[in-house]
Amino acid sequence: MFMNRSNPAVEVMILRKNIKGINQRILVRGKKKKRYIHFDNAASTPALVPVLNDMSRFLEWYSGVHRGTGYKSMVSSRVYDDCHQVIGRFVNADPDRDSIIMVNNTTEGINKLSYRLHLKPSDVVMTTDMEHHSNDLPWRGKATVVYVKVDKDGVLDIEHAASIFRKNYPRVKLLTVCGASNVTGHVNNVHLLAEMAHEYGARIMVDGAQLVPHRSFDMKSHSDPRHIDFIAFSGHKIFTPFGSGALIGPREVFTQNPPDYTGGGTVKIVMKKKVYWSDPPDSDEPGSPNVTGTYALARTLTYLSRLGMDKLQEHEEGLTSYLLEQIGRIPGVELYGSTDRVGVVTFNIKGLPHALVGAVLCYEAGIGTRTGCFCAQNYVRHLLGLKENHEHLKLYDQNRNDKIPGMVRLSLAGYNTREEVDYFLQWLKDIVQNKYEFKQRYKFFIEQGSFAPVDFTGGSLVDKVYKRCMKGSVM
Ligand SMILES: Cc1ncc(COP(=O)(O)O)c(C=O)c1O
Repeated sequence: MFMNRSNPAVEVMILRKNIKGINQRILVRGKKKKRYIHFDNAASTPALVPVLNDMSRFLEWYSGVHRGTGYKSMVSSRVYDDCHQVIGRFVNADPDRDSIIMVNNTTEGINKLSYRLHLKPSDVVMTTDMEHHSNDLPWRGKATVVYVKVDKDGVLDIEHAASIFRKNYPRVKLLTVCGASNVTGHVNNVHLLAEMAHEYGARIMVDGAQLVPHRSFDMKSHSDPRHIDFIAFSGHKIFTPFGSGALIGPREVFTQNPPDYTGGGTVKIVMKKKVYWSDPPDSDEPGSPNVTGTYALARTLTYLSRLGMDKLQEHEEGLTSYLLEQIGRIPGVELYGSTDRVGVVTFNIKGLPHALVGAVLCYEAGIGTRTGCFCAQNYVRHLLGLKENHEHLKLYDQNRNDKIPGMVRLSLAGYNTREEVDYFLQWLKDIVQNKYEFKQRYKFFIEQGSFAPVDFTGGSLVDKVYKRCMKGSVM
């Protein structure tokens, strides 16, 4: 279907055509309607129409899986089991040696692993100063957590990683690191880090939440020193907003029982005083699993593989370089991070709160971005050159997003276009040039914790849109 095309624009346009809601129009300030631009893909990406169509077809056959004796259950069980293999193949997992465990999202996957490794307080887990909270907090309290430093641009200090391995050998059991940062987009050389970890007898876990959606990823063979032992990623960041994600890693890790969550589906035999646990992945997928979400993820990954992840990557990289270069020319805009990155760009405009910039982009331009700390407070604080400040708790308690330090983030995906980026750049220039006017036009609403134009409240606009899209539904 998608054979032999050399121009990435063709793949981009195919993807774009298949994005659900790509032509959604919204009301902006001045009672104008504009086509919504989604530059918040690092949070979640939209769904794909062909996958939705296939889901609808699959739902004709949908039933609860495993141990059902009806045709629908038997078909659904087979689909569900096969989908595990499709998902594993996307990152080149070893079907004989790895378990592909379906979870809700990356956060659940990392938490699961933090329990399944059965760590002791004297074991060392190395994480880094550039992690999302989801790859930091789950490790705390289960082992001694040591953080690899980053430089002033937020780039991981590989030498520091090596020195931690040396100093703590043989106590380091795991290095857990993001494949790409959700704040700077910076891409880590995880295969080099894997080699280092293995040299010191440790394993590596890659938080793939921001990498897997942007670049084709290869866990590599178990015999390769650069092999990635574990990876976790979320479907909703790769065009599958149906509550599915995956944790992949060596089967033997998931046979050390009991699992972290127990219950139906995790067992072979239950006696009053003895339990025989299921083999993975069943042991680690307690309760009735998310069959439709798993189907949707597998179907999406097949779609993307056929379309060509490399083509989408090439396009996204070109767009990101262009965006960085153009923003860099606008005086008064401070950019964060360095160059090797996925399509994540964070910045601040001098003299304007990040939340106000986000509000102007939303209410005037119809562009969806994200502002704040993106669940990576230590990293953002570091990039902003700030120290930890306990007084900031008051700002959080009081919903003062106008005062909490942070940034504005644009995050691109393979379907975004140069026209969308140019349109954003025009608005950015306008905001920089007319910042005092925008400051007067907007008010901070403490109940919502956000800015909105004084001539209408953000709440009422959202109410209108909410009513419109829910019209006819049970809500
Ligand atoms: C780098 C990174 N890791 C982990 C997560 C957590 O992902 P999820 O919310 O899907 O569990 C995110 C979410 O933004 C992320 O960007």
